Amino acid sequence: MVKVIFIEADGARREIDATPGEPLMYAAKDAGIAGIIAECGGSAMCATCHCYLIEAPQGPLPDPLIDEADTIEFNANDPRANSRLTCQITVTDALEGAVFQVATGR
Ligand code: FES
Repeated sequence: MVKVIFIEADGARREIDATPGEPLMYAAKDAGIAGIIAECGGSAMCATCHCYLIEAPQGPLPDPLIDEADTIEFNANDPRANSRLTCQITVTDALEGAVFQVATGR
């Protein structure tokens, strides 16, 4: 398992276990992270799994592919340079200790 930290809208910092090979969104949903809705089921369409990548202690993550980048640009509320769709991030050891802040106001 890979330890990933989510910061919820109320500031709660929650460390969860994520399974390598699965989308990070699944782990967040399974753990009940507040604000991760995932209306489209992981199709990079809804942006209700939008988070900001705050820390990546193992090194930078691969850049978003075009579908993820487009959805962030056009569907996400308050997109930022560190915006990511957690459904488009596959859990690997490179995520160990990574910190994501749940985006709000969608
Ligand atoms: S679950 Fe819809 S964009 Fe990620």
